This record gives sequence, structure tokens and C-alpha cells, in this order.
Amino acid sequence: MSQAEFVVVANRLPVDRVVDADGELSWRRSPGGLVTALEPVMKKEDGAWVGWAGGADLEVEPFEFDGTLLVPVKLSAEEIELYYEGMSNDTFWPLYHDVIAAPRYRRIWWDAYVRVNKRFAEAAAEAAAPGGTVWVQDYQLQLVPKMLREARPDLTIGYFHHIPFPAYGLYSQLPWRKQVLEGLLGADVIGFQRVADAGNFARAVRRLFHYTTKATGIAVPLENGTTRNALAKAFPISIDASSYVELAKDPKVQARALEIRQELGNPRKILLGVDRLDYTKGIRHRLKAFGELLEDGHVGVEDVTLVQVASPSRERVEAYMQLRDEIELAVGRVNGDFDTTGHTAIRYLHNSYPREEMVALFLAADVMLVTALRDGMNLVAKEYVAARIDNRGTLVLSEFAGAADELASAVRINPHDIDGMKDAIMRAIQMPPAEQGKRMRALRKKVLDSDVAKWSESFLTALADARTVKAARVAR
Ligand code: G6P
Repeated sequence: MSQAEFVVVANRLPVDRVVDADGELSWRRSPGGLVTALEPVMKKEDGAWVGWAGGADLEVEPFEFDGTLLVPVKLSAEEIELYYEGMSNDTFWPLYHDVIAAPRYRRIWWDAYVRVNKRFAEAAAEAAAPGGTVWVQDYQLQLVPKMLREARPDLTIGYFHHIPFPAYGLYSQLPWRKQVLEGLLGADVIGFQRVADAGNFARAVRRLFHYTTKATGIAVPLENGTTRNALAKAFPISIDASSYVELAKDPKVQARALEIRQELGNPRKILLGVDRLDYTKGIRHRLKAFGELLEDGHVGVEDVTLVQVASPSRERVEAYMQLRDEIELAVGRVNGDFDTTGHTAIRYLHNSYPREEMVALFLAADVMLVTALRDGMNLVAKEYVAARIDNRGTLVLSEFAGAADELASAVRINPHDIDGMKDAIMRAIQMPPAEQGKRMRALRKKVLDSDVAKWSESFLTALADARTVKAARVAR
């Protein structure tokens, strides 16, 4: 296998497996933001991407896709259960999202997590050229930076954490809290969504290891008695904003937006929620607020409809099954109480849609509701803003989403405060066009100025600087 100068390591490969009616297998680019973000970088850099192909026990040899070498990592059915559903999504996910759901600490999950991280690290070590750069992604692979550094001290290693990093009072629950920090500190640059996340990480390092931290630098002791610098810093991720602008300009998409309004019975105002069906997203709180507005008579179903897209996610994890039941019960109750034969209160769609349809929904929606209880960034907020080329519409945004740090002109809410959220929704519904325009222009400037290309560029520049420092040290 040829080796690459630049290697991305992520839990998932940037492609989805499709098997057609004749049983013929092919690969299709996944719709995810990270894939779009890294595509130009991968092309420029002669890159490889190490990741899981989805599915159990798939034996797939490395292959070229769109100019990138894809290196599949095999997971058994048991490993998917223990490493992915268990440790990643039933321990780290809830713990790092402020224990909205209770994290479970199981030693067999941890053992599988170590084993699988090792397999990803080995695959990356094999794929990377001498002196190359490796960029590890997200909480499923927190041990990879250290494992990789031990196997390949010549590499420059970056890690980006796409989800929140919790305050020490919560983080310290983790039975393997030291091992995880050591794993992350194997990287030269450790990126976070918010300044607060980077701060929480540095604080955990100080509390558990007493290393010196200065601004964004952490002095990590080496065996020879000196230290090396690890950078722990915020690099807020973004979207490919111009592709949303292009879609929003497309007459077919605009026609579809009008059609959506008609299909909903032309309500005066459309509210929209778009989320993975996840307990971090605050969907129940949103439904509660909307249900109460109907009950109080502040809005009626002829006037206002809430469209809630909830895309299926992690369906074999108990907390997600339970959440789905709770949400579907809540939707059924509200609709049962308030629907008429001609109008619905909540149009609930348990499905995922292509980007064209999403942009049409964004254009049809007068109010976008992002009410996450905790969220690393929340790219939907940025997508809505990018799509509103007409400078109309109002974004209601939870202060617990990373996007709130940048999108100051949104109507900000605390989703735990149901009365506050109801007031904000009413304010958004009634907002005069001039105020919508003023806020939306400020939001759009922010999102269009800092798109995802800028994000990867700033992270990779920091990584290139780390590489220069490293080369100077070796030369000495
Ligand atoms: C979040 C995580 C990603 C993950 C995605 C979808 O955005 O930060 O790492 O890929 O959710 O979740 P899934 O478990 O389906 O990969």
C-alpha cells in the first residue's frame, strides 16, 4: 500500500456502502459536513482516510475513491456493540453532554474501546508516509493520538473534538479519566469547538497531572526531563456556506419551498426543528413550549405549524429508543388535542432528507428552532442562516449550543426555561421584517465569512506550525 503525506482518521469513512437490487456493491460519498470540509484538503494533499465502513465484519481492502485512498477498519458485531454503541455513545456521549442522560461505566466497553482505538492507530501508522501529518477526529478515537505517537514519533498529530468537553466536576466521574487525557495529549494540536471546552480540558489536565498550562499551551513532560508543547485551542467548525447559498438560489429549490408551504395548508408562520433524534437536542422541551402556546391560545393551528424533522440515529442504544417513544407520545398528544381535519400542529418527520429538500425547508420556515440542551456546535443553525439569501426568517438559538458563541444576533434562549422559550418563540413569530433583516444580515456575515474551508485551514496551519517546531527540535 502506498503511504500518504496526510491521513485523516475518523470513526466513519467518508462514504456509505450501497447494495443495489442485484446485490452489486458500490460506494457513495456521505452527506456529512466533515466530508465536505476535508474534500479539498484531501485532494490537494495526496490524502488517505482511515475509518469504519459501517456494518459488521466487512472485509474490504483499501481502495481509491475520488482521488483519496480509503482504508477500511473492520469491526465485529460485538465491537460495534461495545466500542461504538456502548463506550462511545452510552458513556462518552452522555458524559460529555453534561449527563443529560446517565452515562454507564462498563469495563468491557472500555476494554473494547482500547482494542478498537489500537486498530485505528495501527491502520493510520501504516498509511502515513515518513514525517507525514495525521488528523484524528472525535470522541470515538481519543486514545489514537498517544498510540500513534508511540508507534510513529516522526508524525505530526492533530485531534479535533467535535462535541463538548465537560467541566471537571463531571469529567472526573470517568473511571478512565487519566488514560483519556493521556490519549488526547499525544496530539500536537488538540482542537475544540468553544473556548470553554479548551478551558475545561486544560483544567482537567492541571487537576489530574499538574502540568503547567499557559494560555493555549500545555507543557507535556518528556522522558528526558524536558517538555514539549501541546496546543489546546478552540477552532469552531463551520459549513460549506456557499453550497447552501447556491442551493437557495436554485429555482427548483425555491419552487419546492413554496410547495411545502402549500402542502402544510399555507399557515401564516412555519416553525422548523431539524435534528438527529438525540436527547441532547432539546426536542421534548421545544414540543412542550409549543404545546403550551397552543393550549394558552397564543397560537392556533390554522396560523402556525411546527415542522419537526428528526433523523433516525443510534437506534440500538436504549436511551435513544426511549427518547423516540417519549417524543412520539408528545407529538401524538399535541396533535390529538389541537389538529383539525385541515391543519396539523406538528408535522413530525422521522426521516433524513437530501440537502436540496433541507434548503427548501429552511426557505419555507419563518422561525428556526435550535433548542439544544448541550451541543458541540450545531451546524443546522449555520445552515439555516446560510440558506436565507432573502435576509428573512428568525433563528431561535440555545445558549448551550457552540454556535451561540458566534451567532450573537440570534434570539438566544435557555431551553430549560420553558416560559422564556415560549416568549422567544412568540417574539420570533411576531418579529417585524426590518428586525429580521437586521439580525439575519449580521448572522449571514458571520457564517459566510467563517466557512468550513477557513476552519480546516486554521487548524492545519496550527498543525503545520507544530511540525516546524518539531523539525527544529530534531535538527538540534
Ligand atoms: C455527532 C458526532 C459525530 C458523529 C455524528 C453522527 O455529530 O460528533 O462524530 O459521526 O454525530 O453520529 P453517528 O453515531 O451516526 O456517527
